[in-house]
Amino acid sequence: MTLPNLDINRLNAFAQQMVKEKHTAVGFPCNQNVHLADFYHWYAVSGLADTAMNNVGDPRKPSLYTLNTHEFENEVIDFFAPLYGFSPENAWGIVTNGGTDGNNHGIYFGVNALRSQSEIKPLLYVSEDAHYSVKRLCDLQGLEMKQIPANVRGEIEIDAFEQSLDPERPALIVIALGTTFKGGIDNQDAIADVLEKVRPVAIYRHVDAALFGGYLPFTEHAHLVSHHLRHFDSIAVSGHKFFGFDEPLGLFITTNKILSRQNSIRVSYLNDSVPTISCSRSALSPLKFWWQIHKTGIDGYRKQSELILKNAVYLKQRLDAIGYPAWKNHMSNTVYFKRPGEWIMKKWSLAPSEDIRLGGMLAHDTVMRHEGKHTIDRFIEDLQQDRSDVTCTEAGPF
Ligand SMILES: Cc1ncc(COP(=O)(O)O)c(C=O)c1O
Repeated sequence: MTLPNLDINRLNAFAQQMVKEKHTAVGFPCNQNVHLADFYHWYAVSGLADTAMNNVGDPRKPSLYTLNTHEFENEVIDFFAPLYGFSPENAWGIVTNGGTDGNNHGIYFGVNALRSQSEIKPLLYVSEDAHYSVKRLCDLQGLEMKQIPANVRGEIEIDAFEQSLDPERPALIVIALGTTFKGGIDNQDAIADVLEKVRPVAIYRHVDAALFGGYLPFTEHAHLVSHHLRHFDSIAVSGHKFFGFDEPLGLFITTNKILSRQNSIRVSYLNDSVPTISCSRSALSPLKFWWQIHKTGIDGYRKQSELILKNAVYLKQRLDAIGYPAWKNHMSNTVYFKRPGEWIMKKWSLAPSEDIRLGGMLAHDTVMRHEGKHTIDRFIEDLQQDRSDVTCTEAGPF
């Protein structure tokens, strides 16, 4: 069989289309302000683009497969650990392949940590508005789950949580720090009060901060993502959301104490140390993260955080000004509103949802760095156009 020639024209047309579409992709939390051309240039000329590296194994342990970027992965974790309130000497973490991978580790590490304290099977508690990956992972890991209703802002209902909490069984709580659709932030103080009151036999808290965990450490609300202040056991953050990478990646950080409670599966060719769920792991992602940290720095991330939060406020103000039903939670870059017409949904890659309490069909815009004021103004113009179309139709056949 002869293979067709590599059709570069087809590839170029595809690339052109993607680059065009990214400017109006505002409904999914992928930061399109990606700047990795210089990294990829270096990567190619250094010879690494023609080298098979792999971060298999525990990055903190010497690896028998030496073609890895563990040293850079550790530096990425060392950079972020204090930002999430972990003391560097007590923190353990990895660069994941995305938010779901981070949640998978959080839930799996949680089950093992709880098992070391009690033989009773744990119950997992999570709000109905939390990301579906938590439900999928529960299913995958054979866990019993209690889904707790969320209020109209997308935050876990504390009274319902208290009523569901079983004191006889270990509790694995997944805290949503920025729900996918509404950007609801679960109230960690209230959750802590309930735990203190009900006192389940053992407790593990995993924070899913896929999007908000990217920017909150660089704001005045950093305390919300602090292990030291909030006492959660692990945290998962996506890299391709706030930080702006070209492909999925993320962070999972926990403590050495939690790590020490994991099932230690002995694999001699991996130096007897495999705490990670996946065997092979990307060596490229940690390198890209390391590159970005050095190019951006804390000040750079701070400015980026300020910008998206300011622009989210601007979007909400513009929607209010035209009387368009819209909502935005405090500390959130996510604005949700009455669902517009199909052409707007498509043109702006908007994500749909529904909430009867807010009138039914909704859509949202997650304001990332590529959505500046100019783009927001164009979006509002489209919404106004959409509304006048609707008004014409509603006006009837005159
Ligand atoms: C709150 C939340 N958690 C987890 C995820 C899953 O992250 P990923 O797509 O990186 O696997 C998402 C994705 O949108 C999310 O919004």
